[in-house]
Amino acid sequence: MQVFIKVAPVQKRINFLRVKGKTIGFVPTMGALHEGHMSIITESVLKNDVTVCSIFVNPTQFNSREDLLKYPRSKQEDTGKLAKAGVDILFYPNEKEIYPEGYGSGPVINLNSLDTVWEGKFRPGHFAGVVQVVNRLLDIVKPDNLYMGQKDFQQFTIIQRMLKEIKSSVNLIIVPTIREENGLAMSSRNMRLSSDDRKKAAILYKMLSFTKVNLGKLAISDIEAHALNEINNMGLKPEYFKIVRTDDLSEITEYRSEKLVAIVAAWAGDVRLIDNLLLY
Ligand code: PAJ
Repeated sequence: MQVFIKVAPVQKRINFLRVKGKTIGFVPTMGALHEGHMSIITESVLKNDVTVCSIFVNPTQFNSREDLLKYPRSKQEDTGKLAKAGVDILFYPNEKEIYPEGYGSGPVINLNSLDTVWEGKFRPGHFAGVVQVVNRLLDIVKPDNLYMGQKDFQQFTIIQRMLKEIKSSVNLIIVPTIREENGLAMSSRNMRLSSDDRKKAAILYKMLSFTKVNLGKLAISDIEAHALNEINNMGLKPEYFKIVRTDDLSEITEYRSEKLVAIVAAWAGDVRLIDNLLLY
């Protein structure tokens, strides 16, 4: 595995491979890699001639300096895992490489309000930062295939919209969520959970599964109210639990046969968790 810190040499290497006719798969991450990340990476390694993985803790998508500073970093372990998984190129840039002219305000792309609902409401500016960094990374890597996790469903939906809006030829692939044994979705932030909170956090997947089982049987508002109640009773602090349409993330009040997803965000102690489950 080749490791690059600077933009120019990584671009040169990827261009060389592209000219040779190799397909390029790209997995952007913020590091502290777990099995969720690794399943995406394995998917790319299997389906592409060359897999590029980036590790960059992007400051522009964090809402608070505290969250940015607390974000786990494990460069050595990550590098070992990626080499073992068959990644060809690791791009590990510093801030200056990604934002040579400062953060700026990022590209203006019409996201059709996808960025202001749910996560966007509770984390204002977060998706502008995600769009900014993914745009910049795509510009550097220019992959054929971009791999993202279902775990961050709204992020996936926004990047899908962004690619359409900028008329990109990049093919976006969604990879299913990997969970711990108790159902808790794997996340780099889980490292910060106490063992008690880790157990309690299993309620999120329990309520997502409850939703899937009861969709069409119970009223939407009753399902959502029950889920919020159970999450509260477990000692977590929910921010939202909603059944929404997969295409535009809009709420529904009555069940009809359409593509839906249940989405949830909740605090377990000082750790903010998000999860979702497709309901079809
Ligand atoms: P990060 O949180 O490191 O996640 C990198 C990729 O791994 C994302 O596509 C995310 O959805 C996926 N992922 C995380 N947990 C997962 C799990 N349990 N199962 C499957 N996939 C999982 O998401 C980001 O980084 C950043 O916002 C980024 C896109 C890199 C831009 O900075």
